[in-house]
Amino acid sequence: MWGGRFASGPDELFRAINDSLPFDWTLVEQDITGSIAWARGLVGAGVLSAAESERLIAALSTVREEARALPGPPTDSGAEDVHTWVEQRLIALVGDLGKKLHTGRSRNDQVATDLRLWTRDAIDARLADIREAQAALVALGERAGSVFLPGYTHLQRAQPIVLGHWCLAYVEMLERDRQRLADARTRANLCPLGSAALAGTAYPIDRGAIASELGFDAPTANSLDSVSDRDFVIETLAAASLCAAHLSRLAEELIIYTTGEFGFVTFGDEVTSGSSIMPQKKNPDALELIRGKTGRIIGHHTAMLIAIKGLPLAYNKDLQEDKEPIFDAMRQLSLCLRLAAKTVESSDWHADRCRAAAAGSFSNATELADYLVGRGVAFRDAHHQVGQLVRVAIERECALEDLSLDQIRGVAPAAEDGVFERLTLESAVARRDVPGGTSPKRVNAQLASWRAKLGSCH
Ligand code: ARG
Repeated sequence: MWGGRFASGPDELFRAINDSLPFDWTLVEQDITGSIAWARGLVGAGVLSAAESERLIAALSTVREEARALPGPPTDSGAEDVHTWVEQRLIALVGDLGKKLHTGRSRNDQVATDLRLWTRDAIDARLADIREAQAALVALGERAGSVFLPGYTHLQRAQPIVLGHWCLAYVEMLERDRQRLADARTRANLCPLGSAALAGTAYPIDRGAIASELGFDAPTANSLDSVSDRDFVIETLAAASLCAAHLSRLAEELIIYTTGEFGFVTFGDEVTSGSSIMPQKKNPDALELIRGKTGRIIGHHTAMLIAIKGLPLAYNKDLQEDKEPIFDAMRQLSLCLRLAAKTVESSDWHADRCRAAAAGSFSNATELADYLVGRGVAFRDAHHQVGQLVRVAIERECALEDLSLDQIRGVAPAAEDGVFERLTLESAVARRDVPGGTSPKRVNAQLASWRAKLGSCH
């Protein structure tokens, strides 16, 4: 491509570090799409006749077919990267005319454009994957009915909640993840073509027309910035990392809940695996891998931040390191989201175990205090009295509701007969009847509104 200036070809070892075709092959569709738009742009700029442009576009479509027919990146072309490969094939198909396509363009604005196109599509696909995971969680909430769960702080039982409420917590996290990815998309969706190597193209290209042909919102504003900026990659990786971190928390909770010690939930055979030596084992591998992939995705984000932090303007070859992290992160995130959905779908919750756990460890103590407040006791005094009652119950090895009314009144004289009704799980959750609270009424309303938003998927 630059043979004129060089007397000899590249060293093998140099090629091993420099060639990107094995991985930037992922961009072949985007590269051809961008080249077709450029071929149209060159007509407006007076570089190509309409007929020449049409011939180039037809040949680029043929190259696209060739690329689709290949099982993977070509290994015998000698091309350094995907841009070179496409141009090589184009010249092979139309001869000298093919050599005109690169007029006024650089691989620098080309690769930035390709990667923005790819990232935009990958974000759109992840937005759909997130919807799938949300739908699985909403469906679980709907089928959970009145399954109770212990709500924890410090992983100590705190107050009872319903399973649907827990599901909705993750639905909300994922919703913010969607918003962050969609927001990153708005800044990714600008077109660098026309920036050329760094200073802007010398041909009167209608950058706005090219941008809109490619579905971008606008051309980028500064040519130096356009060819060297990868913050759209970094932002997308940041949003992907946070989404993965949310999935990792979900996975971690489910791994705990499926232990023999907790015994709240069992997962389907299709997302678990056995042991080669221990015949009884059923391991939550899918969840562990979701948790494990998260480190890798976060690592990609970190790697990209470090890759750009010392780069002078404009393009530097370090930027070629942008591709593998974003390709891998978005692929792994997709796996994680879809597998989280499948695992949640396959989950079988053991309502009795969950109920017993939710009722244990004096998780209705706050209820008792609230009850006393309702009978005129100041909250701090009520808190103190209930704390004393918990100690009595610990001594007697029973729950608060197993104490007699006399025993309760001995410490909390304001208590009356109705106190026992207030100590049930049903009452405890029903009273959390505020927007965002765990009362079944609120949870069901939230589930219904999510159901309406997600449509009938799942
Ligand atoms: N393969 C290169 C990359 O991905 C394309 C841009 C090459 N530009 C250059 N000035 N060498 O970054």
